[in-house]
Amino acid sequence: MSDVQPVLGSKPVWLDEKTKSIMDRTIAREQSLSRLLMSYIVSGLIFMLLPGTFLGVWNLIKISSREAADSVSPAWIQAHGHAQLFGWVGTFILGIGFYSIPKLRKLKAFALWEGWLCLALWVVGVTSRWFVNIYPWHWRLLMPLSAALEFAAFLIFFRAVASHRPSSGAPRPWEPWVFVVIAATMGLLASLLLNLDVSIQLARHAASPALPHEFDQRYLIVSTWGFLVPMVWGFSSRWLPVFMGLKPLRSSLLLLALGLNTMGVVAGFFERFTAAGIFVLAGAATAITAIRFFEPAAKPAKTINVHGSFPIFIRIAYGWLLLAAALSVWASRAGEAAGIWGASRRARAAGFIAAMVVCVGQRVLPSFCGMRVLWSPKLMLLMLVLLMSGCTLRVASEILAYQDYASWAWSILPVSALIELAAVTLFAVNLVVTFLRPPVVVTTPLSMTTA
Ligand code: HEM
Repeated sequence: MSDVQPVLGSKPVWLDEKTKSIMDRTIAREQSLSRLLMSYIVSGLIFMLLPGTFLGVWNLIKISSREAADSVSPAWIQAHGHAQLFGWVGTFILGIGFYSIPKLRKLKAFALWEGWLCLALWVVGVTSRWFVNIYPWHWRLLMPLSAALEFAAFLIFFRAVASHRPSSGAPRPWEPWVFVVIAATMGLLASLLLNLDVSIQLARHAASPALPHEFDQRYLIVSTWGFLVPMVWGFSSRWLPVFMGLKPLRSSLLLLALGLNTMGVVAGFFERFTAAGIFVLAGAATAITAIRFFEPAAKPAKTINVHGSFPIFIRIAYGWLLLAAALSVWASRAGEAAGIWGASRRARAAGFIAAMVVCVGQRVLPSFCGMRVLWSPKLMLLMLVLLMSGCTLRVASEILAYQDYASWAWSILPVSALIELAAVTLFAVNLVVTFLRPPVVVTTPLSMTTA
């Protein structure tokens, strides 16, 4: 056996044994990381489809048939919300964080078992939470246990990605996106601690596992505006200037946006809802100005392997974010306004968070998961058109129906739900088929190719 050999590509490159073994280790690590990430993504997709969206559709069909927003058990609505925010988007974020943050910050590699253990604890925690909300079997034990498992999973994740040990040389200075992702991670920590605390309180004193309405409102502000929205801003500011060919990031404005958004979250948590709405609206507008989404691009967008409309949908998603914040100001001034609060939540959850996850997910996940190419860019376009149409119908008809402005709008709500269900199902199909197809680049360890 020769001690040198040609590697990938048409032009042979000759390597000595040491370089070959380093490359083998790097490729093997990359393959293991891709497998780990794919497991997070597939788990997230399962949460999204069944406990999340299917239950959401079920709830909405019941609400529309009875024409009453409060006709479904709050525990079922919360089961749906928890599965979407933590089961779907949270699992995606943990997986993408494990895969990308140590690389982007050039940190020392974490032990892979930490990633697998985190996934196992997280999936069991989120599943048992969903289960006790639907069917309160031993809920006084299972609810705090599920919250403790989610918290334990977070601690493992935090230890792996918040390490200060650089892979080599001096530590890298923190770029602005790192501050934003850290703030979002603190939002996740706060959400999980609130969840643990309320789960223990409910188990000790309450008659059912449903969170009290007032607490749920404040908790949702922390988990959406405090965790998911800044997490999307962090990754947006890291990747989208390149993917969309935007002008250079205005870093100080991004940090100002983060400050305003954090003040909004604190105000919302203390039930100052109008002030909260104004702060998050100002924060969203400042983040958009910082990342420069609506300014003419400096370079052509990099849309190879995704649908060319990718930059348009990112801009629409940020438009939904502004609308969500504006609706929350209106809702806070309108008194008991379930329809306007619901529309604001919908614009934020489906219009912004879900749209950003599916746009950026279909752009980065195929290559992160073993150098694959998205199966169908046309399906990506179709699912985005469906998601945005379903969301538009839902936001408009939720205000009209729940606020008693137009009774015909009740019949639009189930249609909007089915359109959104179709959209997320197509997203799942596109990703799963992508994962099942072979990679475009051979990543077999070199030592295994030696004849
Ligand atoms: C087909 C898609 C969906 C349907 C039919 C649906 C349905 C519902 C319904 C009926 C509610 C009850 C309150 C209301 O009437 O507004 C609700 C609440 C909620 N939804 Fe959705 N939803 C969908 C997608 C999503 C997505 C994609 C997310 C997040 C990524 C999400 C997150 C939430 C949250 C956080 C709540 C509040 C839960 C609580 O009160 O604790 N939903 N959804």
